[in-house]
Amino acid sequence: MQMQIVFQTRNPSRLADFWRHALRYVREPPPDGYATWDDFAKQAGVDLTDANVDAAVDPFGCGPRLLFERVENPTIGNAVHLDINVATRAQAVDDARVTIDVEVANRRGGTNHIMTVTTTTLTIDEWPKWRSLRLATLADAPEAFGSRLSDWADAPDQRWRSRLRDVPLNVIAMLDNKSVGQVSATNDGSSTSVELISMWVAPNARGAGVGDAMIHAVISWAEDQGASVVELSVKAANLPARRLYERNRFLFNGNRDQADEVRMIRTLP
Ligand SMILES: CC(C)(COP(=O)(O)OP(=O)(O)OC[C@H]1O[C@@H](n2cnc3c(N)ncnc32)[C@H](O)[C@@H]1OP(=O)(O)O)[C@@H](O)C(=O)NCCC(=O)NCCS
Repeated sequence: MQMQIVFQTRNPSRLADFWRHALRYVREPPPDGYATWDDFAKQAGVDLTDANVDAAVDPFGCGPRLLFERVENPTIGNAVHLDINVATRAQAVDDARVTIDVEVANRRGGTNHIMTVTTTTLTIDEWPKWRSLRLATLADAPEAFGSRLSDWADAPDQRWRSRLRDVPLNVIAMLDNKSVGQVSATNDGSSTSVELISMWVAPNARGAGVGDAMIHAVISWAEDQGASVVELSVKAANLPARRLYERNRFLFNGNRDQADEVRMIRTLP
């Protein structure tokens, strides 16, 4: 089921900006295959110069979509209404299915057996896939990372491209074909040590082996690079992440300069 709340207003963009900020929502990403809404509009022959709608969406697909439509004289009686769609949009159905499948798997007490986790290494041209997950990450878990959602929410395409170019390994994870996680790794020019960064699993896909699969992808890449260790930093208070890393044979390797972070290390054979 997909829910949409429609606001009729004189100034869609201003109201949309307010609710994106208040709810940690994001600008709706353009349809698959398009880097920007402008590209999409051009292809569809639509002029966006005087756009009269704006939309805000929950970056991890749980909350309703907010649509803001321009009307010259919104009346108090019908300025807001609800649209409810039942299974009309594949994306919404996928989201619901992931949540239900993980819940069922967790309740059964074993997670990895009934769901398929796959990982894919992104090319630079696939940066829009990285962007939508990364914006969801920064909205969901700001306490776990150094970057802020506000630093990236309106980042130009070129900045996302640079991010994917500068960091040599960028992996996304799919659970039953739905993108639910991301991780990166760098080697800083060192042939011996790889650093695991940017690990995130969508809240509705946690506890299903997604983190394990992404660590596996990083370890495989590190081995291909001839590295002898994989290292990472994690907030000392981030117990779910520490448990994931410990289960994957990362060992405590001292505190970082910032007192609230610890270093962990896994030695490769
Ligand atoms: C840390 C994180 C990547 C773990 O991903 P995951 O695929 O759920 O990993 P795991 O299944 O191994 O779960 C790790 C721990 O999370 C907790 N957990 C398990 N299922 C969970 C769920 N459904 N919801 C919330 N937490 C859950 C458990 O403590 C678990 O440890 P345990 O299995 O040893 O008890 C994920 O929680 C996340 O993205 N958190 C926010 C971002 C973050 O902290 N990134 C790490 C930065 S260093």
